[in-house]
Amino acid sequence: MTNFDTIIDRRGTACLKYDFAKERGHAEDALPLWVADMDFSAPAQVLSELSRRVQHGVFGYTDVKEDYADACVQWFRNSFDWAPDPSWLTVTPGVVFALAMSVRAFSDPGDGVMLMSPVYYPFYDVIRDNHRRIVDCPLLETDGHYEIDFALMERLLRFEQPKVFLLCSPHNPVGRVWTEEELSQLGELCRKYHVTVISDEIHCDFALPGHPHTPFLKADPASENNSIICTSASKTFNLAGLQCSNIWISSQTLREKFRHEIAACGYSQPNLMGLVATKSAYETGYEWHQENWAYMQENLLLFREYLAFRLPMLRLIEPEGTYFAWVDCSGLQLSDLELTEFISSDANLWLDGGGIFGGRYGQYQRFTLSSPRQIILQALDQLYAAVQKRFGGASIQGSEELLVPAV
Ligand SMILES: Cc1ncc(COP(=O)(O)O)c(C=O)c1O
Repeated sequence: MTNFDTIIDRRGTACLKYDFAKERGHAEDALPLWVADMDFSAPAQVLSELSRRVQHGVFGYTDVKEDYADACVQWFRNSFDWAPDPSWLTVTPGVVFALAMSVRAFSDPGDGVMLMSPVYYPFYDVIRDNHRRIVDCPLLETDGHYEIDFALMERLLRFEQPKVFLLCSPHNPVGRVWTEEELSQLGELCRKYHVTVISDEIHCDFALPGHPHTPFLKADPASENNSIICTSASKTFNLAGLQCSNIWISSQTLREKFRHEIAACGYSQPNLMGLVATKSAYETGYEWHQENWAYMQENLLLFREYLAFRLPMLRLIEPEGTYFAWVDCSGLQLSDLELTEFISSDANLWLDGGGIFGGRYGQYQRFTLSSPRQIILQALDQLYAAVQKRFGGASIQGSEELLVPAV
């Protein structure tokens, strides 16, 4: 059993999460729960595979062999009863890179690209920076539950005529795990209006009980000629710095266009260490992942109870998946700017403010719960202390009794 309580000092490793606070406007010692990577070591077996490869000592160019694709396919078969054909696979240095390449390959400058806000902020960047139009179909929230606005979607598809749909499945930051029915309805609409669906499924391995993830093509097999599925072991096994993701494209026409685009941008061979780690993780990491996901679910339990008992003015949007907590902070009655300042200066936390996921979400904060429990607890304590200091104990209702889950 891996002990996920172990605190590994990441400072001084040039890690984005801790080591760039000052450059990004935070105190050097700000406690970071922002970027979506983990403070946990990758599985031991993956480390030893990487070491073995390092010992070999020669790091020349590499490419994808059959056994790599087979390891990936096997993971999806076991996890989702979905087996993409190995020939569909293209390895890229990241999912965001693949989103950008898809926008370039399947639309022209000036074309519309659809997304559903609030959404992972690089979705906006890859549209804007490639001179396409953002066609936003905002999610509808009712009592903390986000839903797709299919009526609006159809109107936008008809009148704005986007060429590409960037789907986040499961959805970062709101934590929805789209149902098979929702996905097939979305697929049907996109087929009707000739829109290519780019399904970013990087968080697919983090579905909470009762909310199974369905790969887009499994939910809507008829979309085989107008969809792409983007996956990576990077979130599941904390390998993001190794820059390796797996893009599955069933249509030969789309696959050729996509491969042509990445070649045109000068990318050819994948990262050697990324391939080694990904293959090893998919082949040997199942138990590690199960334990790790169970641990992070307990983090969520702690987070939920802490808010309920000590910070009841903060509203947790109940996730169905992902290791994020999307929190409505409007109960603090601060302006968007004051909230940002309060989180950063008063609580000395480094979070992702909701505004970057969509202009209307300035009252939200996203917490990433992929750290040892002690770190999550410390972040919550800092927030609680800041609230008490700013608003006084009187505004804090609820019990002081906190049910910290047994590890
Ligand atoms: C939805 C989503 N897509 C993509 C990424 C990043 O993927 P990559 O590092 O492979 O570009 C993230 C990271 O947080 C994410 O949440």
